[in-house]
Amino acid sequence: MSLTSYIRTIPDYPQKGVKFRDITTLLHNPVGLRTAIDQLAERYRNIPIDHIAVIESRGFLLGAPLAYLMNTGLILIRKKGKLPAATIGEDYDMEYGTSTIEVHTDAISPGNRILLIDDLIATGGTAEAAVKLIRKCGGEVVECAFLVNLPELGGNERLREIGCPTFSLCAFDGE
Ligand code: PRP
Ligand code: MG
Repeated sequence: MSLTSYIRTIPDYPQKGVKFRDITTLLHNPVGLRTAIDQLAERYRNIPIDHIAVIESRGFLLGAPLAYLMNTGLILIRKKGKLPAATIGEDYDMEYGTSTIEVHTDAISPGNRILLIDDLIATGGTAEAAVKLIRKCGGEVVECAFLVNLPELGGNERLREIGCPTFSLCAFDGE
């Protein structure tokens, strides 16, 4: 069964014409949540990963249990102003506006092999900014993995253009 069946679609949210893919229903369902995390853990089981980087906020929900299973630590990529120590930031355009994400400058060592996790890729703007941040710190993004891909919005292609592989557990083709 596709993981899309655990994800609720809300029409016209947050604005008219947008179909919002609501992962709270997957998170709420023990089978949905476990299946998603287990599938990610299985994919990366034999791939050397030093850290999992997670994008605030919904990426935290998937990346933390995955890091626990994979026995890696977490790198938090947070929205501007949330991290207390020295940070570097990256601005990006997102589906519904602009924003800035930041990471602690001491969270990534040169040569670190990092798996980047977020819940969803739409335009790819958020993930692209996160990849740029990690690379600025000398980290290598092994792959960007998502629960959901919205292929119509071109995020995968955007990440491919900057040489970053992507993987998604499921996709919505617009229906
Ligand atoms: C959503 C989603 C992804 C991003 C995808 O996060 O969780 O992080 O947008 O969009 P993009 O591919 O077009 O950049 P959002 O910024 O809404 O915040 P949240 O995770 O804190 O809810
Ligand atoms: Mg998000």
